[in-house]
Amino acid sequence: MNPKRKLLIAGNWKMNPAPAGFDADDSPFRSRKNVDVAVFPTFLDLRRCIDAGIPCGPQFGRPEPTGAFTGDISMAMAAKLGCQYALCGHSDRRQFHHETDEEIAKQFVAAIDNNLIPIFCFGETESEHDAGKTIEVLKRQLQPIITILTGSLSLTADRFSLAYEPVWAISRGDPNKPAATSKDAQEIHALIRSLLPKDKQASTRILYGGSMKGSNAAELLAQPDIDGGLVGGASLKIDDFRKIVEAAEKNGQNNG
Ligand code: PGA
Repeated sequence: MNPKRKLLIAGNWKMNPAPAGFDADDSPFRSRKNVDVAVFPTFLDLRRCIDAGIPCGPQFGRPEPTGAFTGDISMAMAAKLGCQYALCGHSDRRQFHHETDEEIAKQFVAAIDNNLIPIFCFGETESEHDAGKTIEVLKRQLQPIITILTGSLSLTADRFSLAYEPVWAISRGDPNKPAATSKDAQEIHALIRSLLPKDKQASTRILYGGSMKGSNAAELLAQPDIDGGLVGGASLKIDDFRKIVEAAEKNGQNNG
């Protein structure tokens, strides 16, 4: 990882209760000197994370501040509650809620407008991967975000992050699912970085997501273009998540 980019390890609890001990004083969900840490709980647990001083955000937020959108909350509401982050475009949302690239781009802008740090998630499915369409799909998903970043010279890279999540590597509860190899992930991350506007290339954090765990985090995080992780399954196991954060911390120290 580039010494100028501080690693971010984010836990995505999806539709699961907060793991026991998440709010302990020595909880791995607390940010450290060299590593930013954040959590994405269900809406029901946001307040508990905020009260425990754990940086967090919603797994989804609408761009409209209020309105007739049954079942949703808005980015503005999450910000008012005290959230610092927001997920945008997770593959579960794309698959089960049919969110489009354009809708996700609006969420991204709304998060920034409300002083939340959006983590824009994107990645190819297994069939797209097998059909050799990875680069084509990533370019299509990224295009609206690149347009936004290109038009906002004043938008510094500390106000957003990207997360490359190859859908075929996401564990969906299977602890034995292999992650992308660190070599393959690095190649894609470098390509993604090259697609960003020149003024944002060196400073933008690009996280990797998809079966990151204690046993493979150090190798993935050692890659020069991997700037952290979006962690699902392993974020529900406090000890495993702690190993990931510790690997990130070591990496940060090595980078001075
Ligand atoms: P996983 O999930 O770490 O369980 O593969 C990652 C994600 O879906 O964000």
